[in-house]
Amino acid sequence: MTVEGLPMAVPAANLPARVRIHEVGARDGLQNEKSTVPTEVKAEFVRRLAQAGLTTIEATSFVHPKWVPQLADAEQLFPLVAGLEGVHLPVLVPNDRGLDRALALGARRVAVFASATESFAKANLNRTLDESLAVFEPVVRRAKDEGLHVRGYVSMCFGDPWEGPVPVHQVVRVCRALRDIGCDELSLGDTIGVATPGHVLELLSALNEEGVPTNVLGVHFHDTYGQALANTYAALQHGVTTVDASAGGLGGCPYAKSATGNLATEDLVWMLQGLGIDTGVDLGRLVATSAWMAERLGRPSPSRTVRALSHKEQ
Ligand code: HMG
Ligand code: MG
Repeated sequence: MTVEGLPMAVPAANLPARVRIHEVGARDGLQNEKSTVPTEVKAEFVRRLAQAGLTTIEATSFVHPKWVPQLADAEQLFPLVAGLEGVHLPVLVPNDRGLDRALALGARRVAVFASATESFAKANLNRTLDESLAVFEPVVRRAKDEGLHVRGYVSMCFGDPWEGPVPVHQVVRVCRALRDIGCDELSLGDTIGVATPGHVLELLSALNEEGVPTNVLGVHFHDTYGQALANTYAALQHGVTTVDASAGGLGGCPYAKSATGNLATEDLVWMLQGLGIDTGVDLGRLVATSAWMAERLGRPSPSRTVRALSHKEQ
């Protein structure tokens, strides 16, 4: 399912040699599906993603099952994929209860998820922004004491459906707070996909100026306005080497109605291969995985690369 010799690898200046893809399809993608995907299909999806060469695969969330019913099978799913060789399987935990559940199953990487805005903190976590940070503090401390790797998401870094444009200083404050409580890495979420490349560069520079180095930053772009790849390219030029993406472009957020799919992993890999940047991913296998998942979901993948390469086969 690839085109021999394409894309041609033509490196460009000032870009990293390698990018780590943080695959979120099984979590960000499936949390937003109307129908609930059977647990065994999810497990097979994760296994196929691993076979395609992805080494960081966000598996599920230990959130309240009523808040995200699509991921209510976290207890059943995690043990089915936990043994995958050489693969990190981060999971989302919103609070102590979530961390208890993740630890009970042997998870080694967890992510807390904050918001740069009050409105989304309330909609997504039922807490004010500062209340949610206060909830995360003991969660992160306990996770670090247990030797876990902790990611801190920050949603609505560029714009918010209720509050409009989000000032950079507001995002920087939340990022600093998450670093101060001990998060190892941060992921900058463009939850509703409104960022543009200049804005991305402005935020990354502001974070550096306030003592948050680029090597702890990942970017998490949703593709609502078709800007996700352009934004990613800007972030790479700034030195970011961790990029979140979702196989087949699945995704969204049930608590932000204007959020659509994430940057598709295949579209990202196509661009990175063209730039001669190593990801360790086998594009053909990945496309086959997303085509398989699209069949299970009963609709075509929104990824341009999946569609182009799937048609080539017929
Ligand atoms: P709440 O209703 O305020 O919960 O929800 P509570 O603390 O008042 O507790 C109420 C009951 O829920 C209690 O049970 C708790 O034990 C239970 P009771 O005593 O009444 O029997 N409970 C739990 N049960 C299971 N697992 C738990 C848990 N916590 C409490 N973890 C809560 C607060 C945080 C739980 C809720 O708001 C929630 O689950 N929110 C999750 C929302 C979510 O998952 N959103 C999507 C992920 S974020 C995202 O997609 C953005 C991202 O992709 C980046 C980007 O794009 O920007 C990451
Ligand atoms: Mg997201």
